[in-house]
Amino acid sequence: MTVKLLLDRKREGHALGSAEIRELVEGFTRGDVPDYQMSAFAMAVCCRGMTQRETSDLTNAMMRSGRCLDWNVPTADKHSTGGVGDKLSLIIQPLAAACGIVVPSLTGRGLGLTGGTADKMETIPGYSCSQTLERFHEISTSVGVSMSVQTDEICPADKKLYALRDVTGTVASIPLITASILSKKLAEGADTLVFDVKFGSGAFMKSVEEAKALADSLVGGSRAAGRKAAALVTDMNEPIGFAVGNANEVAEALTILSCGDERLQDVADLCVEFAARMVSLEKGIPLDDARAMCREKLADGSAKAKFVAMVEAHGGDLDRFKTRFNRPTFKFRVQTTTSGYVSSIDAEKVAKVAFALGAGRAKAGDAIDPLAGVTLAVKRGDRVPVGAPLATLETTREPELLERLAADILKAFSITPERPEPRRWIAAEID
Ligand code: URA
Repeated sequence: MTVKLLLDRKREGHALGSAEIRELVEGFTRGDVPDYQMSAFAMAVCCRGMTQRETSDLTNAMMRSGRCLDWNVPTADKHSTGGVGDKLSLIIQPLAAACGIVVPSLTGRGLGLTGGTADKMETIPGYSCSQTLERFHEISTSVGVSMSVQTDEICPADKKLYALRDVTGTVASIPLITASILSKKLAEGADTLVFDVKFGSGAFMKSVEEAKALADSLVGGSRAAGRKAAALVTDMNEPIGFAVGNANEVAEALTILSCGDERLQDVADLCVEFAARMVSLEKGIPLDDARAMCREKLADGSAKAKFVAMVEAHGGDLDRFKTRFNRPTFKFRVQTTTSGYVSSIDAEKVAKVAFALGAGRAKAGDAIDPLAGVTLAVKRGDRVPVGAPLATLETTREPELLERLAADILKAFSITPERPEPRRWIAAEID
């Protein structure tokens, strides 16, 4: 294979052969195909796209660049394209496990405005997401659920390619995003994959059309690889729940797992929708039956028990997690100067404030402040009088930050005389 000829053909918009794609990825993983040629390939794909068959070939080649796990039990996982206040995995994965499915979940540390699932879980003192694949396997099968970080043995080609895409303006391509996400999920080995593809100000995909196209591609690619799959396209224009940060999100997830706050019922209902699809597909039962089972396992404490068992298996200590909230932090409460209905809360603006407080990381390896973040006091549709609290900002960094960021967070809220339409979480479904 001559890489230059292959690049010429992709630049002219031709579809590449399966063997060509496989050899390109193998050569790149070995170091024989240099970064500049692989970057040119990524740019050609960005401009010319890929057929579904080419996308599947790229996904398979990247999946096979490392280890692939095998499970001899029913398995399912949920993947989110990421959002603001997105603690859904912390509830969905143990909930599906409580319904009798093994949920092996390899997750990431966040890069950008907010922490990833691994950052959130590691705010629990002692909890380690860094497990060997053998230990990940053991925890998943004995407890029913494990949330660990992907090791270097999984999809090394994706790690190398993503680093190039990040600096060459080639992230925004549906075939490349599909191959990147799916190669890791397929290598993880779950039989059923359910995707949460988010759109809106706080999401990677800004429009619902782009999100639907990615959802179609992820579901199509999963099925082509012999997995059961579904996707929900969900609204990420406003934060999920009240907590945006890391430790405060874990605390909120625990509240939902304990059915401890009626005002979080909308988030609990969304979690049930995802877990029910995992259970329905994996067990081959009607969606309504799976929904009923999930509601029961949330209400009777079984999902919370799975979460607690997973934390223990990963070395975490939930009692110490709770006492950490007594640590001194700098706090600032923001109040409204107008009365009316909270008609919107811009997710991206909230995330930028949480980032500035220390909740996210600008580059890989940066430390995050586990206790930093924003806790909203209101949600869309609430009626507020003048002086009502809107949010509390929290950081362990400089207190001077808080006053400046208070002005920024106020811009996230829109308060109007008219009551807004209720939030519609799910914009589309691919099943
Ligand atoms: N997440 C990934 O894992 N890969 C992408 O390309 C984009 C988002």
